[in-house]
Amino acid sequence: MASSRRAILAGLGASLLWGGPKTGMRVLSSRPEDFEMPMDGFGSWITPVEKFFVRSHHYTPDVKLRDWKLSVVGKVSTPLVWTLDELKKLPRVELVSVLECAGNGRGLYQPSMPGLQWRYGAVGNARWAGVRLADVLRKAGLQPGAVEVLFDGADVAVGAQPEFQRSLPLKKALSPSTILAYEMNGEPLDPAHGFPLRLVVPGWAGDHWIKWVMKIEVRDTEFEGFFMKTAYRIPPRPVLPGSAVDPAQMVPVTSLSIKSVLASHADQSTVAPGPLQLTGAAWSHAAPVVAVEVSPDAGRTWKPATLGADRAPFAWRLWEFPWTPPGEAFYTILVRARNALGETQPLEPEWNPSGYSHNAVQAVRLHVTATPLSPAASPAPGQIVRPATLEQSCLTCHTLEPIEQQRLTRAQWEREVEKMQRWGAKVRPELKEVLVDFLANHYGVRPVR
Ligand code: HEC
Repeated sequence: MASSRRAILAGLGASLLWGGPKTGMRVLSSRPEDFEMPMDGFGSWITPVEKFFVRSHHYTPDVKLRDWKLSVVGKVSTPLVWTLDELKKLPRVELVSVLECAGNGRGLYQPSMPGLQWRYGAVGNARWAGVRLADVLRKAGLQPGAVEVLFDGADVAVGAQPEFQRSLPLKKALSPSTILAYEMNGEPLDPAHGFPLRLVVPGWAGDHWIKWVMKIEVRDTEFEGFFMKTAYRIPPRPVLPGSAVDPAQMVPVTSLSIKSVLASHADQSTVAPGPLQLTGAAWSHAAPVVAVEVSPDAGRTWKPATLGADRAPFAWRLWEFPWTPPGEAFYTILVRARNALGETQPLEPEWNPSGYSHNAVQAVRLHVTATPLSPAASPAPGQIVRPATLEQSCLTCHTLEPIEQQRLTRAQWEREVEKMQRWGAKVRPELKEVLVDFLANHYGVRPVR
């Protein structure tokens, strides 16, 4: 949000009231709030709010309804300023849709890139209720020349970080499935999910689902902000892994990719011989998932899984596959989904510089044995001595969490430190080397586990 109201609305009260992540969430950053859904979240068709992943570029704003208004401005004949009750006079629409972060699976890419290291759980399936964005725009009256619609939330950038503002092309904004939601799973949105109003763009990645929406601007030119022209872009064709690509040569991440997850069994786990129930979820964009297939033998043979009865155009499908391992062995189980367009998942991830849209077939390796090995005693964690400069330069806006999950080379760490300096981190020039060395030595390149 770029207005003078930021002072009133900024703050951490909401996240304190909300109480942070519930048990089981994987905390990638406690502040700004970035929490990943645990694998058991794939066990229900509707993801409970307390398990639903949270992705925030800035701190969660403490929005008070009495101060909140939605304004609709720009290329419209009647600019609007509405309270939530006024907005609710428009017809109510309800839909079930998957919400998936564009960066879901970033932590699985090799070589690694900076960014939150999401694995499988930056996704969830919820029931959203609100009003059609098209109805709001119709009330305001679109003027000729309108090409896109820009959204701004009540969240405020941290330091000199760019504001999180994003736009939708007019056609997508007018789609009947694009809604401004005030409810999630039958309750008002909670602060971490955008109270009081968030954009819901079924079939498109989460970066479009702006939270805490306060201002909608109809534009006759493309918005040039950082989160449109630099971030959330992907090369149109796969590139050499590890290479840099000019954002101008990339295209925005829009539609979700077809994807499936095996959630019932962890990779590299051990199970006793006997019948197993493999389960998980699969989703796509506008084209529905029509099949999920499981290969219990590393891709030699594929068999159809049974799809769950619950379905809706943009929702995920649960699937199950009862399987009795034919004997004691080490099995590599693969799962892939197919949609109504015949699209399926690649066997290998295709690398891109920011680690978006990961949808490669997942492999779950299962050791079926009646005599499990006793786990090797893990070595006591060594005491990491942190240089004082880390505390002073880096742990002011956020905690260590987003730092320690990275797997970066020294050169990547140097660029990351410089990015944070541009955002406001104060690093004494004579200590920068020490800091970069420490980061590269402790949070360097290592295998994904
Ligand atoms: C002025 C505030 C500020 C300071 C100081 C700061 N950071 Fe950050 N950093 C941020 C914000 C805000 C994010 C989250 C960005 C997002 O999620 O969009 C972030 C995210 C990160 C991430 C996750 C990857 C990414 O690029 O989003 C890493 C790694 C990181 N910071 C490292 C550091 C290091 C190392 C330092 C010390 C040199 C540092 N930060 C100091 C604001 C800061």
